[in-house]
Amino acid sequence: MFISFEGPEGSGKSTQIDILARDLKKKGIDFICIREPGGTLLSEKIRDILKSNSYNDLTIQSELLLFLASRSQLVNKVIKPALKINKYVLCDRYIDSTLAYQGYGRNIPIESIKLLNSFATGGLEPDITFLLQLDVDTGFRRIKKRYEEKTGTFDRIEMEDKSFHQRVFDGYNKIASSNNRIITINANEDIDFITNKIQSEINKLV
Ligand code: TMP
Repeated sequence: MFISFEGPEGSGKSTQIDILARDLKKKGIDFICIREPGGTLLSEKIRDILKSNSYNDLTIQSELLLFLASRSQLVNKVIKPALKINKYVLCDRYIDSTLAYQGYGRNIPIESIKLLNSFATGGLEPDITFLLQLDVDTGFRRIKKRYEEKTGTFDRIEMEDKSFHQRVFDGYNKIASSNNRIITINANEDIDFITNKIQSEINKLV
């Protein structure tokens, strides 16, 4: 089973992935947890470039192609081999992030992104996608708090203005409204509610 998690900044994807991973481990189910961009040596290097504030002159075309290069490596070297031996794959972001961020956020035509996503992945789509939907202000309050409590600063994409992040939020709603694979969950709900919802949706598939 291939499960992806999507959402705007601060939507709590990693918390839910950790909870699901613990649950799978308890049940003795073999799985891998990966994130995008990242998950292979090369993809993690690309992640550093994409997140770094040193590359503020990256064109939107280069940005898109770097996300896709990272994805192609991850799909072919990690995801497909894992699925082949029946492992669960839990992926923090995947093709819908590119539609939301580069498509709706950067205004690159959606149809071009769909084609490129399909080129990079060989058409591999998740079995189910959880969209943890969260308004921009709440999301940014959360990540600000996280950076104050631990270390870290806003990365290159988090630094984009509010209208960019609002387009990403609205874009996610549009993507989800036309795709049954995507289950939208209000990320303002409490953690247990979200965990139970995710669990019950997965149970429907197994
Ligand atoms: P994250 O791991 O903290 O979610 O960081 C990944 C960042 O990259 C986040 O700002 C969303 C962005 N992103 C895109 O813009 N396009 C993509 O295709 C992916 C996978 C992520």
